[in-house]
Amino acid sequence: MIFYFSGAGNSRWAAETISVALGDTLCTIGDKVLKGDTIDIKDGERIGIVCPVHGWMPPMIVRKFVSLLHAKGKHYCFCVMTAGDSIGEAMHILKNDMEMVGLTLDAAFTLIMPESYVCLPFFYTDKPLKEQCKIERATRDLIQYIEDIKKEKSVKHLKKGFFPIILTYVLGIPFNRMLITDKPFRVDTERCLHCGLCAKVCPVGNIVMRSDSTPMWKRCGLCTNCMACYHHCPAHAINHWTTKNKGQYTFKNNKPK
Ligand SMILES: Cc1cc2nc3c(=O)[nH]c(=O)nc-3n(C[C@H](O)[C@H](O)[C@H](O)COP(=O)(O)O)c2cc1C
Ligand code: SF4
Ligand code: SF4
Repeated sequence: MIFYFSGAGNSRWAAETISVALGDTLCTIGDKVLKGDTIDIKDGERIGIVCPVHGWMPPMIVRKFVSLLHAKGKHYCFCVMTAGDSIGEAMHILKNDMEMVGLTLDAAFTLIMPESYVCLPFFYTDKPLKEQCKIERATRDLIQYIEDIKKEKSVKHLKKGFFPIILTYVLGIPFNRMLITDKPFRVDTERCLHCGLCAKVCPVGNIVMRSDSTPMWKRCGLCTNCMACYHHCPAHAINHWTTKNKGQYTFKNNKPK
């Protein structure tokens, strides 16, 4: 079983590619967490988690999801974490979370993909050429990772960046505590096309449409700032802190459910 979380579609593409190659079933993490039930894993079943890194940590929703897992016996577990450039110690945190529920993370991979974080000054989407290069490289890396997973190898291919402990524990923890919020989301009602796509693509159901068919953020506590709503909006009508006049990015084959 492969569980994934994705905002701009990078991790979704990786999860779908792995699922096709292995013939394993795909499942969305957002839906599982919204349900809130314990997730029973069949004896001996392979478990894959595919998700982005958020502020050099696993997204909070992914950590909540891991806490719901219930598995007995031996399982081969792997995680593919997509990132704009580095994951710090995020995989170490996920590994510890998995151990808390009795699972061992056997294989761990980083896939460098186009940038999706744009909420703070100096954070932009990548230029088209850089996006293209990253996707080509990620496609090649993923083929190799799938071979490792098929053979159930215990391997690590991680891009932690310089000073990963500082990235995660000095910068990442306050980033995730203070800057992951849906409060700053605004819609430009002049631009909005009333299409409802933002609500449809939100992986945690945090957007409802008002009676005038513009979006409202529910503040349900599950928003991870994955930026799916911002990046998918066909009118670039959604803003958060410093996103005005910044680019949008979605993985090119990513289609809303
Ligand atoms: C809230 C947020 C935080 C992010 N933090 C990091 C980070 O710490 N390091 C990094 O390399 N990329 C970071 N990124 C970029 C994403 O991890 C990267 O673009 C990822 O592939 C997006 O996957 P997705 O399209 O499946 O959501 C961040 C993106 C978001 C939205
Ligand atoms: S996706 Fe954009 S245009 Fe469509 S309803 Fe949402 S804000 Fe409006
Ligand atoms: S409201 Fe937007 S940023 Fe927050 S989880 Fe939903 S799609 Fe992602």
